[in-house]
Amino acid sequence: MKKIAMVGVGYVGLVSGTGLADFGNEVVCADIDGKKIDMLNNGQLPIYEPGLLELVEKNVDKGRLKFTTDVESAIRKSEVIFIAVPTPPMDDGGVDLSYVFDVVDRIASAINEFKVVVTKSTVPVGTGDEIKKRLLEKGVDRKLFEVVSNPEFLREGSAVNDFMRPDRVVIGTESEKALEIMRDIYRPLYLIETPIVATDVRTAEMIKYASNAFLATKISFINEIANICERVGADVQVVAKAMGLDGRISSKFLHAGPGFGGSCFPKDTLALTKIAEKAGIKAQIVEAVIDVNKKQRQRILEKLLKFVPKLKGKTIGLLGLSFKPNTDDIRESPAIYIIKEILERGGKVKAYDPEAMDEMRKLFPQVTYVSTSYDALKDVDAMIILTEWNEFRNMDLDFIKSVMKKPIIVDARNIYDPAAVLKKGFLYECVGRSIERIKEKLNVG
Ligand SMILES: NC(=O)c1ccc[n+]([C@@H]2O[C@H](COP(=O)([O-])OP(=O)(O)OC[C@H]3O[C@@H](n4cnc5c(N)ncnc54)[C@H](O)[C@@H]3O)[C@@H](O)[C@H]2O)c1
Repeated sequence: MKKIAMVGVGYVGLVSGTGLADFGNEVVCADIDGKKIDMLNNGQLPIYEPGLLELVEKNVDKGRLKFTTDVESAIRKSEVIFIAVPTPPMDDGGVDLSYVFDVVDRIASAINEFKVVVTKSTVPVGTGDEIKKRLLEKGVDRKLFEVVSNPEFLREGSAVNDFMRPDRVVIGTESEKALEIMRDIYRPLYLIETPIVATDVRTAEMIKYASNAFLATKISFINEIANICERVGADVQVVAKAMGLDGRISSKFLHAGPGFGGSCFPKDTLALTKIAEKAGIKAQIVEAVIDVNKKQRQRILEKLLKFVPKLKGKTIGLLGLSFKPNTDDIRESPAIYIIKEILERGGKVKAYDPEAMDEMRKLFPQVTYVSTSYDALKDVDAMIILTEWNEFRNMDLDFIKSVMKKPIIVDARNIYDPAAVLKKGFLYECVGRSIERIKEKLNVG
């Protein structure tokens, strides 16, 4: 059992802080956002994440999990300080480390005894060394700290399970003492035989970028295949399924769609190209992945424009706003691009999402937000399915057709069977399946 401060209580900090408390550690989660901490101290979650509320309540009740805005006191009381603050992109694509360094400076001013300083935020290779240098420059005694990189691989939407049952834990440090302390924190995972990859700080930092860039590559790759499939009359769903059955490939992250979004893949792929550039290397594959991804969301808009060439005065129903299901996170969501384009062309948007409407309202107050998927389709000139929430998978197509002004569906997530939708008389477009060919087979016009 260790005394831990989790600094930054966002998607990663809250889930990992709670998970570490559940492992039996004593965790104080500290954030400068007083509103977030007030919510948490009142038993509410500032984010939507399945299973998290129950786990927070359980560990608060056991007295192992606390929330505070007093970052310095959390640091003073703890032996291990996890940094889980944002690392957003700067205008040039590099990583803004100001939040991380703010925490480092707070550690420098609060440090009273030996601490392990752990980066859980995704940080460029070399940041661990920068942190060490900064602490020394601030006059901190070298014997008072060790630096560790412990990147986080959880996925929003299944974050609790990902944290409690990870595929691996990466611990990067040059210090035996820090490694032992980290092993102790994650001890319960030994019982389920989770592989622990112990390495140096720079390798650990690189593992995170390489992993995210690879997953993003799979998405852009299958989107590229999808675009070819559409032209040559093949079905990307079957192609992806058969590819995924090959254990060397795996079916994960092989779904054609509107491209990746979220708070990680877009910024981490861009950051990796910058890390490479600084090192004198061109990250050609990663650059292509980013480029393909940008074009993919444009392709979804083009599919809409094919049916509704002039959006002025037209209303489009949007189903799904979050960048993926089971989260309220809209950061870099394809929906942001689509809404912006529709509005800029003089169109109107009616939208529904089970969790992400409050977030999207902050960006686009002019959109009409409704409380059911069917309300979002009433009197609209076309609809786009942008996120594959389960509740969109089995809608009553006859009813939808009766309430829409025009029966047009752009299914950016391939959740409907094209033949079934076409047979009902809809105009339909999806990703990576040639509708012309399907129509020919069905003999419909
Ligand atoms: N979201 C994910 O799925 C995910 C997965 C793996 C890794 N990561 C990485 O984890 C890091 C955090 O991401 P996130 O999505 O949890 O961010 P987030 O924006 O949800 O949360 C960050 C929190 O840090 C707080 N904060 C900012 N500066 C602070 C400071 N100086 N002291 C205390 N608190 C401060 C903010 O108020 C906010 O609550 C990023 O580096 C991200 O790349 C994210």
